[in-house]
Amino acid sequence: MEKNLVHAVSSLLLHHGSDVMKLRLHGFLHELPPGPTSFPHISYGMGKDLYENPLGTLMTYYEEFGPAFTLRFLGQEMVFLIGPEANQMILTSDYRDFSWEHGLLAEMIPFIGYGLLTTDDEVHDRARKLLAPAFYPARIQNYGEHMVSRAVEAAEAKRDGDLFELHGWTRQVALKIAGDVLLGMDTPREKAEFFAEQFEKGLSCYDGYFWQTLLRRGPGSLQSKMKKHVEKLDEVIEEEIAERRRWPAGGEAILDLLVHAEADGQRFSPREIRDHLVTLLFAGHDTTAATVAWLFASIGRNRHIYDRLEQEIDDVLGGREPSAQELFNELPYLDQVVKETLRLYPPAWFGPRMARKEFRIYGYRIPAGTHVSYCSWATHRMPELFEDPEAFDPDRFQESKCRAMEPGAYVPFGRGPRTCIGMRFGELEAKILTVVLMQRFRLELFPGQQFSVRTVPTISPRQGVKIRLHRR
Ligand code: HEM
Repeated sequence: MEKNLVHAVSSLLLHHGSDVMKLRLHGFLHELPPGPTSFPHISYGMGKDLYENPLGTLMTYYEEFGPAFTLRFLGQEMVFLIGPEANQMILTSDYRDFSWEHGLLAEMIPFIGYGLLTTDDEVHDRARKLLAPAFYPARIQNYGEHMVSRAVEAAEAKRDGDLFELHGWTRQVALKIAGDVLLGMDTPREKAEFFAEQFEKGLSCYDGYFWQTLLRRGPGSLQSKMKKHVEKLDEVIEEEIAERRRWPAGGEAILDLLVHAEADGQRFSPREIRDHLVTLLFAGHDTTAATVAWLFASIGRNRHIYDRLEQEIDDVLGGREPSAQELFNELPYLDQVVKETLRLYPPAWFGPRMARKEFRIYGYRIPAGTHVSYCSWATHRMPELFEDPEAFDPDRFQESKCRAMEPGAYVPFGRGPRTCIGMRFGELEAKILTVVLMQRFRLELFPGQQFSVRTVPTISPRQGVKIRLHRR
């Protein structure tokens, strides 16, 4: 009787609903891979585990159910697909068959809009072409100079013996760097700071995003508060866009490039410019800040790694300020440490999509309309791919070992045509912040800290990383 009713409602909607609705219903009527609960059952225990320890819980599901499992929570379903085969399929071979815009992170669209991250097909491809020049090596080199001066300014303000929270500090520096690069160095400080503040307030509404935002709708909810910050943010951006349009082309900031970029005789509209700017700010600062925080949390607990890295920095640079060229090519151990940090703590730890077509993987037939996600966090912890996966061991990224790595095994920046456009930018910034701090201070973890993970929706240390500085 219940099943007949479901089928009657489904067939009505399949004929009259929207395309996305039809695809999702189609998925609902098929059997998905196993998981800890079956729809519509809601497990309080599962919800609590996922909220308190989202990523540890995912690993236990991987161990229990294998590389494909389904999570069901408050009517939402998501199939997690773990491992290189899934990564290759979603990111490379069949990437057109997996939609970002209709994936579970579409929850971010009211905030970040339709930028490079959240769009598909022609809209995405056109924007990627227009934005690519902002990330050419010569530009990255130029941004590197701003990064060094901002990092030095912030590090010089610190004193011997200071106890401080590193993640918050890095976020502030990364936001300033993003402001310089996106808006331009000439932007008045108050304007850039207001822009950053509204952005942070809007973003903070996504704390615990995955499991909570579904409950946050209606007046007085966090989503409605977010709207308030978004409106303020948009006001500043609109004014800025109008002003830049009056300037001649050739400015160095990404905003100037967006205002004057042209592909096939077409320019970005003000709305598109706004969405790209906010997307770059979203994708670009928290990821790097989290990387630096996890890096020091990791080497702080492995002093032999810290000492080896410090030695390399001293040998190559002494007290000199680093150039982008040196950071990319002449500090191999630093590179390995950053790579290992991103293996264990990939800030963008999952990549949700909606399947546009039925597909087969790991012995399952997954219907069109299913929410799926690849997961770098879990793939990077597979013992079949990384021996003793929980150990922090930068030597696994020695050049010869990297070459032997299976394609799709290591995906902290995604892969394929939608690989992170800011990869080199992010790597450079993380390296600069690390080097500038280590040249001036010995960093010591405040004793007794436990590091748990917060998802906003990128992962960062929930209580931050408390550090004591000793001037060198
Ligand atoms: C350590 C730093 C960073 C990490 C780990 C990281 C990670 C990622 C990952 C995993 C993706 C792919 C997401 C998916 O497949 O669903 C991505 C995409 C993206 N990232 Fe990054 N990112 C970093 C820094 C940056 C920076 C600095 C910027 C910009 C200034 C940026 C801008 C973007 C954009 C625009 C996309 C979407 C690309 C597309 O779909 O064409 N990221 N990033």
